[in-house]
Amino acid sequence: MADPLASGAPRVAAPSRSAERGLALAGVALAALVVALGAYTRLVDAGLGCPDWPGCYGFITVPASAQELAAAEARFPDAPVEPDKAWPEMVHRYFASGLGLLTFAVLALAWRRTAAGAAPSGARGPGRGLPMALVVLVIVQGAFGAWTVTLKLWPQVVTAHLLGGFATLGLLWVHALQLGAVKQPRSRPGLAVAVRWVIAVVVAQVALGGWTSSNYAALACPDFPLCHGHLAPPMDFAKGFDIFQDIGPNYLGGALSSEARIAIQVTHRIGAFITLFAAAWLAWRVGGALGGALAGIVAAQFGLGLANVWLQLPLAVATLHNAGAATLLLALLTVHFAATTAGAGQPSPAPASERPRVDRSASSSRPA
Ligand code: HEM
Repeated sequence: MADPLASGAPRVAAPSRSAERGLALAGVALAALVVALGAYTRLVDAGLGCPDWPGCYGFITVPASAQELAAAEARFPDAPVEPDKAWPEMVHRYFASGLGLLTFAVLALAWRRTAAGAAPSGARGPGRGLPMALVVLVIVQGAFGAWTVTLKLWPQVVTAHLLGGFATLGLLWVHALQLGAVKQPRSRPGLAVAVRWVIAVVVAQVALGGWTSSNYAALACPDFPLCHGHLAPPMDFAKGFDIFQDIGPNYLGGALSSEARIAIQVTHRIGAFITLFAAAWLAWRVGGALGGALAGIVAAQFGLGLANVWLQLPLAVATLHNAGAATLLLALLTVHFAATTAGAGQPSPAPASERPRVDRSASSSRPA
């Protein structure tokens, strides 16, 4: 029998580019859902709906039978079972676990492709590095999910968990872009550095937003653009941005003074203006449909922030404000892809097996 290795044949068959791309896009959709479910869980005050992790009162679903409820009460006498709080928390965990498994599948496909030599793992080619980072990130996210519960919504951990969710979503999107998820965005060479700056501004604004929500500073100012009728109301920045807040107390509902919460809310507003101007300027430089989309997304996100304040944080608006920030990040990553990809955003070459065959005899006989 012929030795496949001796004949130069690849050891493993490369997965098709479309299968890899489909999986990456499914990951993007799932990550977006997990981030939104996380926001929903926090907004309905269900972050401590299950006092333990990974189970819920020691069960893999919310305890329901009389026997299960008795066992739950014996284990956690200070935390009575509230199914309307426990279910959102568990649904978020189920989807997050599914996302974890999916990222392992993303890595497995990338591994098979690169092992088969189907695509180079060069700077622009979708190599193994990004999927490996993704797997590490979801494991770290699992830990942050656990600490969110065990450290009783310590704002530092809640904010880091939000940023980790956005990073997971962003990495999956970049992976999908490298696999050709978006058809040839017009190349924007020369904008790469500017896009990175705007991404940094948005990440800082997302962190401020997470800090706002995890410290329950959303309604610290009931009006906009003023706060309690003042341009500069009494504020306590030292307490508002004390990142060494004690671990131990239950942070559900927030533990800061009104002045500290106002300092956080006002800083998020200033960040919102900076974000709006930075993204609008970039949108103008980018132009075309991509620039238009970027401008529309940042304007909508700003409007949702205002609606949060003026309508006193309705659940749907607050969840959409979270989703809007995620969409803004994905739009910026798409612009970055267009700015750094030579050849009008072409994905890296498809595996040889998927490339169309060229009839050389026909082309050589073409008249000059
Ligand atoms: C334009 C760029 C903006 C971005 C990227 C942004 C981003 C965010 C993010 C990521 C959160 C955390 C959401 C969560 O934890 O689920 C947040 C919270 C919040 N943002 Fe913004 N925001 C922006 C503008 C604004 C504006 C103009 C306002 C109006 C004052 C605003 C008001 C709020 C409020 C009240 C919260 C707390 C909501 C909650 O507790 O769920 N934001 N923001």
